[in-house]
Amino acid sequence: MRTTSLVRDVSDFDAVVLGSSLYAGHWHRDALRCARDHAEALARRPVWLFSSGPVDSSAEQHDIPPVHGAAVEMRHLHARGHVTFGGSVTAETPGWIAHSLVKHGKAAERRSPEHIQRWAHEIGVELRSADQT
Ligand SMILES: Cc1cc2nc3c(=O)[nH]c(=O)nc-3n(C[C@H](O)[C@H](O)[C@H](O)COP(=O)(O)O)c2cc1C
Repeated sequence: MRTTSLVRDVSDFDAVVLGSSLYAGHWHRDALRCARDHAEALARRPVWLFSSGPVDSSAEQHDIPPVHGAAVEMRHLHARGHVTFGGSVTAETPGWIAHSLVKHGKAAERRSPEHIQRWAHEIGVELRSADQT
């Protein structure tokens, strides 16, 4: 696993899962830059994208489509799938908006290891079945 701003080369990876936190309806600029800088190499490998994510239960209840920027990268990279996971805003989250959410009881820890594991498992199954063909 690499932080997107530290990715220099993706050629060592057989497959890539690239994701970003969501801020004001956008993917983080480092994740977008990573997708764009490595677009050619990424488009030649199996790629999945994820976003994280709402601090309510919505991501657990239904599929949340990618935000515009992530949807554009899905097309550029021929990504095989996208998922939006729940996110997290806590008293430790920096910034005044986060502090305001905490103050108004709207902050929550909604990251779901089970959701992430289910998705990772699906990717593993798809990669293994491709290996066998
Ligand atoms: C200022 C601010 C704006 C946010 N905007 C969105 C948003 O537009 N959509 C969304 O689903 N989550 C939004 N969130 C929730 C974050 O995506 C969530 O906290 C995520 O877990 C942050 O991940 P990180 O801590 O790895 O940056 C926002 C959170 C903050 C603090």
